[in-house]
Amino acid sequence: MSHLKQQAAERAVEFIESGMVVGLGSGSTAILAVRGIGQRLANGQLRDIRGIPTSVVTETEARQLGIPLVTLEECRVIDVTIDGADEVDPRFNLIKGGGGALLREKIVAQASKREVIIVDESKLVEKLGTKWAVPVEVIPFGWHSQYDYLVSLGAQVTLRRSGDRVFNTDHGNVILDCQFGLIDDPIALGAQLKSRTGVVEHGLFLGLASDVIVASPEGTRFLNRK
Ligand code: A5P
Repeated sequence: MSHLKQQAAERAVEFIESGMVVGLGSGSTAILAVRGIGQRLANGQLRDIRGIPTSVVTETEARQLGIPLVTLEECRVIDVTIDGADEVDPRFNLIKGGGGALLREKIVAQASKREVIIVDESKLVEKLGTKWAVPVEVIPFGWHSQYDYLVSLGAQVTLRRSGDRVFNTDHGNVILDCQFGLIDDPIALGAQLKSRTGVVEHGLFLGLASDVIVASPEGTRFLNRK
């Protein structure tokens, strides 16, 4: 699987041109693209890139690779972001947040002119919710109440853990992974999740992806939005 991720990452890095502000995604696939950008900067194929990382992990890696970083306050518009996803439907709607970075990933995605998603073919689904739960980031205060709300929406809810500890996001929040089954109307569900005070963000990325690159044993392909 890792060579497929590598192929998708390499194709995505071709979208990056010198002088661009680039959103640096999170997760095992996106990090390969970050490394590809670092490599191209090091060998002179790219220059004058400014990166905006979507997580502390990505930020650390980007610094090690010598990718110059800026904040979203300094550069409010991002030319291209390359990120991974947990599920991709035929309309380019996504579930993201398997790595817990969904909040910054979504902020970066909505500030991006182009959001390039790189996945292997196992991530393609007809309907969101086929394989993955929807991560919902909530503030720790009163999280049990958000848990009950999510159950009332029909989800099977699990508090995310990291080993024997509760998982904390880069922003000190917790994640409730919500198994809704097949999601017929992701827009309506997203609105219900956003309407709840205490919910910071959810992992449904709707209408944010501009391009999807899929790697499979047969090769890498660009998907068209249906
Ligand atoms: C990080 O929070 C996620 O949104 C990842 O981009 C997503 O989980 C895909 O990760 P992998 O590339 O590791 O499968």
